[in-house]
Amino acid sequence: MPTPIITLLGGSGFVGRYVSAALAARGLRVRVPTRNRDRAKHLTMLPTAEVVAADVHNPATLKRLIEGCDAVINLVGVLHGGRGNTSFKNAHVGLASKVVAACRETGVKRVLHMSALHASAEAPSEYLRSKGEAQAIVRNSGLDVTVFRPSVMFGREDNFLNMFANLAKAFPFLIVPAAHARFQPVFVNDVARAFDEALQRRDSIGQAYDLCGPKVYTLQQLAEFVVHTLGPKRAVFGADDTLTSIMAFAMECLPGKMMSMDNVRSMKIDSVCASHCQFPFGITPQALEAAAPAWLAQRSPRGRYAQLRDRTHTQG
Ligand SMILES: NC(=O)c1ccc[n+]([C@@H]2O[C@H](COP(=O)([O-])OP(=O)(O)OC[C@H]3O[C@@H](n4cnc5c(N)ncnc54)[C@H](OP(=O)(O)O)[C@@H]3O)[C@@H](O)[C@H]2O)c1
Repeated sequence: MPTPIITLLGGSGFVGRYVSAALAARGLRVRVPTRNRDRAKHLTMLPTAEVVAADVHNPATLKRLIEGCDAVINLVGVLHGGRGNTSFKNAHVGLASKVVAACRETGVKRVLHMSALHASAEAPSEYLRSKGEAQAIVRNSGLDVTVFRPSVMFGREDNFLNMFANLAKAFPFLIVPAAHARFQPVFVNDVARAFDEALQRRDSIGQAYDLCGPKVYTLQQLAEFVVHTLGPKRAVFGADDTLTSIMAFAMECLPGKMMSMDNVRSMKIDSVCASHCQFPFGITPQALEAAAPAWLAQRSPRGRYAQLRDRTHTQG
């Protein structure tokens, strides 16, 4: 039997790195289009990954990328909408429609689609509404679809805990916007495992899985966890609604866009799973406290010293 080929849109990003690795570990061939090959350089280490420079928004290109594959996984997403929220519309809604069209034209039936927890037409932010619209397009397509809706994901390369770690290194104290917003962070490796399991199970077709970790935290508690793990003492203050809006407005105007007003609107609903919700496929999701210190602690002066010492011992 020929080796299955999976076209992995958005495979060059944070989550894509782990999904690619999970699929490649089973010997599957992974085709990863990217706008910038440099962003996907790390994937060239995987023997069965093929990185292709391509514009996935071009219908003819997308058709070529999907032709002959056994499944499409769409991880493409943006956190900032840009002027008139066109980035949300293009990256989420527009691309979802194009993927459905390309699958119909090429006869590819199986689609795994990445959405976000509480994505819906009634959500308070443009990010979540566009994610809701995209998942509805894919679910109503008649294809063999599985949707994933995670809370915020953490992992070595995340933009979430690492953002607090960078701020804690740069400033003597932290001010946390939307400090009372609640999250149920989920480990990116567990999410990647769920994608891999879904591909292997017919009973996942037609399902939409909410993915959360084992524990709920406020944003302030998460910042405190990072600061505590890093070591040096930093005071962590929570911003009220007014200060949160001012911070978001200011950051929206700065390059790098750490946060936007739309992000603040997303945080108006807790990114937390229903109490009866279980992680699918019998996977036990890992706790933040068990997984994250493995890389966060390496960023502390003591952690870097330990690394240096270990390296010296190995070389000696
Ligand atoms: N990270 C989280 O905590 C979190 C939580 C819930 C849901 N999600 C969803 O999970 C998915 C993956 O997130 P991530 O953290 O891995 O994001 P990421 O690291 O920013 O990666 C985004 C990926 O999407 C591609 N992409 C972005 N904008 C694009 C566009 N306009 N056209 C084509 N490709 C584009 C990028 O490809 P290039 O190589 O071309 O740049 C990259 O591969 C997203 O759909 C996101 O909304 C993430």
